Amino acid sequence: AVRRLTAPDIRARKGGEPIVSLTAYHAHTARLIDPHVDFMLVGDSLGNVMHGLETTIPVTVEMMILQGQAVMRGSKRALVVVDLPFGSYEGSPQQAFATASRVLKETGAGAIKLEGGRRMAETVRFLADRGVPVMGHVGLTPQSINTLGSFRALGRDDESAAIILDDARAISEAGAFAIVLEAISEPLARQITQEVAAPTIGIGGSSACDGQILVLEDMLGLSDRVPRFVKKFANIGPAIGEAVEAYASEVRARSFPAEEHTYAPKKA
Ligand code: KIV
Ligand code: NA
Repeated sequence: AVRRLTAPDIRARKGGEPIVSLTAYHAHTARLIDPHVDFMLVGDSLGNVMHGLETTIPVTVEMMILQGQAVMRGSKRALVVVDLPFGSYEGSPQQAFATASRVLKETGAGAIKLEGGRRMAETVRFLADRGVPVMGHVGLTPQSINTLGSFRALGRDDESAAIILDDARAISEAGAFAIVLEAISEPLARQITQEVAAPTIGIGGSSACDGQILVLEDMLGLSDRVPRFVKKFANIGPAIGEAVEAYASEVRARSFPAEEHTYAPKKA
């Protein structure tokens, strides 16, 4: 049996070979990416990608657990990290522990991720002290869309940069094993990466980070709109359209299914 990577394995990669990660929501995509990534994130971006939601606000713990179970079944080597959705952890450290322990018990995943800086430091400490590895997430935190007002890069002026640096420091000191830095300026990402003990995982966080993450469907060209920080490493969307068009015309022409797709009666 292959040994699965653990949160301490990821933590130990600080300053070393870049940490590679992608999101996964399904068993089949988990199986395809497992040989190539160090961890996969069951992100609450599944609300946008799988369900067509405008924001991640409506995503539930049940949705995260179902996809976390699917991703665990599809993978064997990479660490699986599951996002805690909006409303399931911010109320208190106790609420966060109840949700996180349920997610780990029901999925078998090795870690959870939650959004927020200083305000979440006490909770990160509470969970880490009780056997829950926590990945942090600062900079653009999509669950705060209703107070942020829009999805745009942060930390591009001194005041905003100082707040985000403080946020990253606070959750690193509280025991986060890694921290996602989303949509922040390059000099800030570089400074955070140099100053905090936890490895930084960039998404729109520049090449200065200790690792990178992207939403799989975005980098495959399956999403209709993507942020500036996404590079499309493939363009699968049009290939799906072409395959479905070919299928439709063969069904209409009765050229599919052909003989090789058809069962003959058993010979007597
Ligand atoms: O939900 C998600 O996909 C994420 C990553 C983009 C970091 O939180
Ligand atoms: Na997320």
